[in-house]
Amino acid sequence: FRVDWDIVTAEKAGFDHFMLKEIHEQPRAYRDTMGSRISADGTQVTLNELTTLTPEAIREINRVHIVACGTAYHAGMVGKYIIEKMARIPVEIDVASEYRYRSPIITKDTLVIVVSQSGETADTLAALREAKRCGAHVLAITNVVGSSVAREADDMIVTLAGPEIAVASTKAYTSQLVAFYLFGLHLAQTLGTQTAAEIAETLAALKALPEQVEAILEQAEAIKGVAEEMAKHDNLFFIGRGLDYAVALEGSLKLKEISYIHSEAYAAGELKHGTLALIEEGVPVIALATQHELLEKTVSNIKEVKARGANVLGIAVEGELELQKSVDSTFVIPKTLDVLAPALSVVPLQLLSYYASLARGNDVDKPRNLAKSVTVE
Ligand code: G6P
Repeated sequence: FRVDWDIVTAEKAGFDHFMLKEIHEQPRAYRDTMGSRISADGTQVTLNELTTLTPEAIREINRVHIVACGTAYHAGMVGKYIIEKMARIPVEIDVASEYRYRSPIITKDTLVIVVSQSGETADTLAALREAKRCGAHVLAITNVVGSSVAREADDMIVTLAGPEIAVASTKAYTSQLVAFYLFGLHLAQTLGTQTAAEIAETLAALKALPEQVEAILEQAEAIKGVAEEMAKHDNLFFIGRGLDYAVALEGSLKLKEISYIHSEAYAAGELKHGTLALIEEGVPVIALATQHELLEKTVSNIKEVKARGANVLGIAVEGELELQKSVDSTFVIPKTLDVLAPALSVVPLQLLSYYASLARGNDVDKPRNLAKSVTVE
């Protein structure tokens, strides 16, 4: 009689890697992060954890700075879009290691949002301290309640992703997106920048996300084949406009981190100003095209790369047949509001990186040169 298991295998819950397990935990992480923060009748967001950020304090805010590193920075890019769209407050975003050194204009009416899975990243913590020194109000979005960032911020929204072990962040990123959606809606409610009907519509779509992610995960095998093909290349590109560009950056980072394939994410409209020179026969391009208002423009950018021989994988919303005609292959995500699309479209990109890393024989959970939490500046 032999018992063939160890504690690490047990923690992987039957998955080959922590990363794959964490990708699959996203529907649960979404549900937990939304949890009791949405009223039972689906009409209101209740962020009871905000203590110093009262409705009066919110009305005083005249600018928002978002500061973070790595994947958390990419979540912040989506956050900027959400807050500007929902609350009409101007938002700037910086990587934490740059923020302090550009003499940002911080006043007591500035809300500085620091985003950090671990809550221990040295650059982010230093930026937080600088913001506090200048009198800003600091809100932390973090996954670790007792972390330094959580302790030093004035307010905190905890993501309930649960412990994230793989170095490449997946469920923490998507839970940060959910935190931004909730916070954006909370601002809109307080400031009256969205109608009750708009808020209820977004909340309903938000609540549908966990099941929609489950549907995407059921198609993981389809991504595996594409990833194995991509793993044969040394260079590839991600393109997108608006929120799709923010997700393109995250997809590209994920791929670099664990597959070591060089990739660049480009705002699709900017390609023609330089990067297009790198597109040649057979180069894989992943085109995110989930934003309805921008679709026509994105399709014309896809045609630019197709004309130079690129092999294009489109990430499209169900029913967008026009787009499907202009690409070589498509991965379809379920219908949602444009603003929520990042919470779905990033999932196939996570799987793509995972399978590309596997195909290249890399250590998926512990990529070379990288650490889960970086506590030096
Ligand atoms: C490290 C990790 C990244 C992470 C970044 C920020 O570089 O490898 O995956 O995005 O730190 O981490 P944080 O804990 O602040 O979100």
